[in-house]
Amino acid sequence: MSHIQRLPRFLVLLLAFWLVSLSPAAHAAEPREGLLIVAFGTSVPEAVPALKALDADFRAAFPDAAVEWAYTSQIIRKKLAARGTPVGGISDGLAALARKGVKVVRVQSLHVMAGEEFSALERAVLLDVKAHPGRFEAVYLGRPLLESRQDAREVAAAVLKSCGGRAPGEGLVLMGHGQAHGRADLVFEGMRRAFVEADGLTFMASVEGSRTFEDLARELATRNVKTLWVQPFMIVAGDHARNDLAGEEADSWASRLRAQGFQVKTNLLGMGEIAGVRAVFVRHARETKDDLTREPVKP
Ligand code: CO
Repeated sequence: MSHIQRLPRFLVLLLAFWLVSLSPAAHAAEPREGLLIVAFGTSVPEAVPALKALDADFRAAFPDAAVEWAYTSQIIRKKLAARGTPVGGISDGLAALARKGVKVVRVQSLHVMAGEEFSALERAVLLDVKAHPGRFEAVYLGRPLLESRQDAREVAAAVLKSCGGRAPGEGLVLMGHGQAHGRADLVFEGMRRAFVEADGLTFMASVEGSRTFEDLARELATRNVKTLWVQPFMIVAGDHARNDLAGEEADSWASRLRAQGFQVKTNLLGMGEIAGVRAVFVRHARETKDDLTREPVKP
């Protein structure tokens, strides 16, 4: 008779539970992988469907990962906190993942192009990594929506498909955001080119970038098109989409195009509401090998 058989039954059970708790399977409940989804931020209710759909797709693609969101805009974070629905910044999100036991983080930007906002995000993550050495084994940074030719082609196909009501011969005008300092101008031109390759009746301009509405109007004047659909080329159909693009005021793009004699129809869909666009973000989160805790990998 072994000693263990002489022990009271409850002690044997206790010993068994203790042994099980030491096994790796018991610790699998703690997420090792985490995802920090970073957007500029938005406080308008119209943005909710796009953000919810993005959140759902990321959770489906990384079922074992803890998921946190961060907004880079301080103004928007203050607004949301005052409303009782706070969203943290990058450091808050990384700290939340660390508290959940995450060791490998993927930071995925929801920026459209690597402009000023994306640089700020990258810097904020780096500074946080430096301030907490050893907290994570790896912190991967996912690239914004548009970088490679593959990105541009997949986004063009998805956006074109999303304007379902458009009949042959009708044009599609897309409003991008753009930045005054021009850091993303060339990416914008590359995207415009991908749209034209996919569909010759697609036209693009930006709110703040170097390609303006006037450039668009000049191009349209040379083309034989009577009906134009207008659609935002932004992740959420927020203020720019509802006012600057499709608003009733005389200076909105829709009003100005009507004044030029075009028949204008609107498709106020944020790109976050388009499955094919979300798939590019998820692919970028999956593909990244850019570990900010290490020296860059040399070829
Ligand atoms: Co803006």
